[in-house]
Amino acid sequence: MISPPLIKLCALDDVPVGEIRPGVLPDGSKVAIYNVEGRIHVTADECTHGASSLSEEGTLIGGIVECGFHFGRFDVATGQAKAMPCEVALKCYEVVIAGGEICIADPARLEDKT
Ligand code: FES
Repeated sequence: MISPPLIKLCALDDVPVGEIRPGVLPDGSKVAIYNVEGRIHVTADECTHGASSLSEEGTLIGGIVECGFHFGRFDVATGQAKAMPCEVALKCYEVVIAGGEICIADPARLEDKT
């Protein structure tokens, strides 16, 4: 099996258990990196309800991130909205841990494989 192209975000040690950290993709878009009991998840950083950064304003409660603006919630593993006023899911990324680094599969290159 061929590994997909990867984008490195940060070291695994940079995201302690129960914490959220920001990351930036090569195109400049921001992501939020979560450590849920040792399992890493990556979603888009901006809340789908408004211009709130989940990595800066959000609170991780188990596997749920709560937005700091209006307290909407999302499941960080699936991106699904879990509490109003949020209704639209967050974009989620496929996470790969490689050499102690948190990476995601490069979504742009994966889309080029059609
Ligand atoms: S901006 Fe996130 S809940 Fe409103």
